[in-house]
Amino acid sequence: MATGWTRAETEVLARALVRAPSVHNIQPWRLEFDGERLLLRERRDLELPHHDPRGRDRLISCGAALTNLELAVRVLGHRIRTETLPDAGRSDVIATIETTGPLPPTDVELHRYSAIARRGSYRRPFSGRPVSRQEIGDLIAAAARKGVEARPVQDELELSQIADLLEFAAEAYQHDRAYQRELAMWTIRDEGLRRHGAGLAESTIPAGSLPWAGLVRAATAVPDRRVLQRRLAGETLLVFLTIDDSAHDHLHAGRALQDTWLDAVDDGLAGSVLTQPLHLPEVRSALCDDLELPGFPQALMRFGYPSGLIPPSPRRAIDEILGTGF
Ligand SMILES: Cc1cc2nc3c(=O)[nH]c(=O)nc-3n(C[C@H](O)[C@H](O)[C@H](O)COP(=O)(O)O)c2cc1C
Repeated sequence: MATGWTRAETEVLARALVRAPSVHNIQPWRLEFDGERLLLRERRDLELPHHDPRGRDRLISCGAALTNLELAVRVLGHRIRTETLPDAGRSDVIATIETTGPLPPTDVELHRYSAIARRGSYRRPFSGRPVSRQEIGDLIAAAARKGVEARPVQDELELSQIADLLEFAAEAYQHDRAYQRELAMWTIRDEGLRRHGAGLAESTIPAGSLPWAGLVRAATAVPDRRVLQRRLAGETLLVFLTIDDSAHDHLHAGRALQDTWLDAVDDGLAGSVLTQPLHLPEVRSALCDDLELPGFPQALMRFGYPSGLIPPSPRRAIDEILGTGF
C-alpha cells in the first residue's frame, strides 16, 4: 500500500519508536500508515498480569513511544496534529498523527530527538556530582508542559517515608512467587540478547542491593531503610503525578516522562523509572497520604550524573513494529 512516506522516512519513524522505554521492555506498540496519517496502536496481547495487572504501565509506555514518534515526524520537517485515544479507548489506537504542512524542527526538538538513541535505563549508583536546582527546575518544567506534575522529593521526612514504602514493597515482591516467575520469564541472559528483541537484559539490572533503582528479585539484598534513605538522598527523585487516573492520564504521564528523560540526557544526566512499588495498592495510597500528593502517582524517576556507560537493552525488529515485510 502507498503510504506517502519514503522507505528512508519510514525507517526514521520506526527506529525512533522502537527506542522508547517500556515496562519490562515489552515494546507494546505497532505503527500503521493510513496514507500520510500515522496510527500508533497498543499491543494488548502483551500482558504482565503480575507486574501491571491493569495495563497502566503499558499505556505509560505507549505515551513514551508517542513522544519519540512525534519527535521523529517533526525532525522530518512536518507540522503535526496529534489526536490521542481517538476512539476513547474502545479500540487499540493510541494516537493518530496527521502532517499539516512543512515546518522545520525547533532546537529543543532537535536536542530531544538526538537524545533518543543515547537514553537508556541507568540503574546503578550515580557519580555523586550534584544536580543543580536549575537542572531540576528544567526537568519539572518539561513535565509541566505536558500537563503532568513532576514533584521532587527532597525533605528528610518524605525520603524516610519513601524508604519505608520501598522496603515494604521489596519484601512483598520477594515473597510473591508468581510475580518472580513473570519477572524471570521477561529477563534474558546476555548471551541470548541477539536472539531476543524484547525483555530485560540481565546485565541492565544489577544483582546487588539496588532495590530502589531497579526491579526487586528474590535474590536482591534489600538494605535497611536508613541505608535506603541515605541513598535516595543522594539522588534527584521525582514523582510523576496526574490529576486523574484514566487512560488519558496514563498516556500523558508517559509522554511527560519521556520528554523529561530526553531533556535530562541532553543535559548529560542519566536516570531510571520505578513503577514496581506503585502496583501495590497499599503502597500507592500510602504514598499519596504520606506525601499529601495532589494527584495520582504514575511513576517515580531517579536522575543523576552517571558514573559509567549505560548498558544496552534489546529491541524488536522494525518489521515487527510495522507489521510488514519492511
Ligand atoms: C511504564 C514503565 C515502567 C517501568 N518500570 C520499571 C521499574 O519498576 N523498574 C525498573 O527498573 N525499570 C522500569 N522501567 C524501565 C524499563 O524496564 C526499560 O525502559 C526497558 O527495559 C528498556 O530499557 P531502556 O530503558 O534501557 O531502553 C519502566 C519503564 C516504563 C516505560
